[in-house]
Amino acid sequence: MSGQTHGEPGPYDFAFIIHPLDPKADVKRKYPLLGTLLPVPAIHFFSQFFPPVYISRIEGVRSESTGRTVGGWFVACPLTPERMLSLPVERVYRKIIQTGRLAERLGARLLGLGAYTSVVGDAGITVSRHLSIPVTTGDSYTVAVALEAVREGARQMDIEVERATAAVVGATGAIGRAAAHILAGEVQELILIGRDVSRVEAVLDALRPASRARLVGSTRLDDVARAELVLTVSSAIGAIIEPHHLRSGAVMCDIARPRDVSARVAQERDDVLVIDGGMVQVPGEVDFGFDFGFPPHTAYACMAEVMILALEGRLESYTLGRDITVEQVQTIARLGQQHGFRLAGLRAFDRPLTEEQIARVRARRRQQSQYP
Ligand SMILES: NC(=O)c1ccc[n+]([C@@H]2O[C@H](COP(=O)([O-])OP(=O)(O)OC[C@H]3O[C@@H](n4cnc5c(N)ncnc54)[C@H](OP(=O)(O)O)[C@@H]3O)[C@@H](O)[C@H]2O)c1
Repeated sequence: MSGQTHGEPGPYDFAFIIHPLDPKADVKRKYPLLGTLLPVPAIHFFSQFFPPVYISRIEGVRSESTGRTVGGWFVACPLTPERMLSLPVERVYRKIIQTGRLAERLGARLLGLGAYTSVVGDAGITVSRHLSIPVTTGDSYTVAVALEAVREGARQMDIEVERATAAVVGATGAIGRAAAHILAGEVQELILIGRDVSRVEAVLDALRPASRARLVGSTRLDDVARAELVLTVSSAIGAIIEPHHLRSGAVMCDIARPRDVSARVAQERDDVLVIDGGMVQVPGEVDFGFDFGFPPHTAYACMAEVMILALEGRLESYTLGRDITVEQVQTIARLGQQHGFRLAGLRAFDRPLTEEQIARVRARRRQQSQYP
């Protein structure tokens, strides 16, 4: 642990665990020399032996409604996604718990789990049992923000949500199932895509009683091409959505990290609106003390969840495990709104979408609906 804590920790200070997603680029952000010298397989290999890392102090998250200001820390679990999926889960838990203990020593009163640290094993339950501070995965707010991005994409494309066919890729997962639950009340047809028939059917059975939409289950990614609105949120470690999977004029919101949508889609399909879901504008003059690749004052939705809870003074394990309720999503969305968190402008592959890009896709969509 190398960093300063800027005086006494506050009563609502939080910590958030990050980890390398793109091994070379992310290691370089903290250790420029190591990131430059080590080849990717070596980073994957050595990541299991690295201790948790203090990254930075976060200052200046300020509620628009109450004026309360909170701060916290980024701490890093050194494991890459590939390592988290290949090591025995008990070893991965140990590393995440060690990182959580670093957060406790710094003075954090609440801990957020980033990216794969919330995906492995039982999605935070075991980790929280071994720590003395509450833990949240951030998945409830991630669902809320992703759906807001899908609705905004639909608005930009003149797609009427209530008459649309939507698809969720990764519909058997924590985020995918909760998002599907809410979308089932909003769209005309909803395609739930997973890898395993029985798991997909279990989600269909759970959603059916309250669904407005006609529900369809699928294990074929090719069914994505039937949807005008797509939310993709698998935990695959590489891209799974390729150019041929997409329908012209569709909105594709990708909240998976690493991404589900291949870089080829950006190069070859300028007739599809691909948007990065899950990025929010943080209220106040927030300084993260570390460049994690986002524009100033913006954060992942899962980071924002821990900030919202801290601003609200709710030191509790708000989201743990894979059963996220609609109520949890709606409550955190309302709290986020009250404190001034907003969906950041539409972006794709880490760059802002220009008016021209959006207009081009909209024109393609209009052409398509004129000549079906
Ligand atoms: N943007 C943000 O702010 C944010 C916040 C939190 C999480 N995330 C990201 O969201 C993603 C999902 O998180 P989660 O907590 O919902 O995970 P999860 O509960 O483990 O669910 C993962 C889903 O992906 C499917 N899947 C796994 N590997 C796959 C593959 N190779 N091909 C196709 N489908 C695959 C799983 O299907 P099976 O049922 O068949 O296993 C399951 O439906 C992760 O990438 C995570 O990093 C992003």
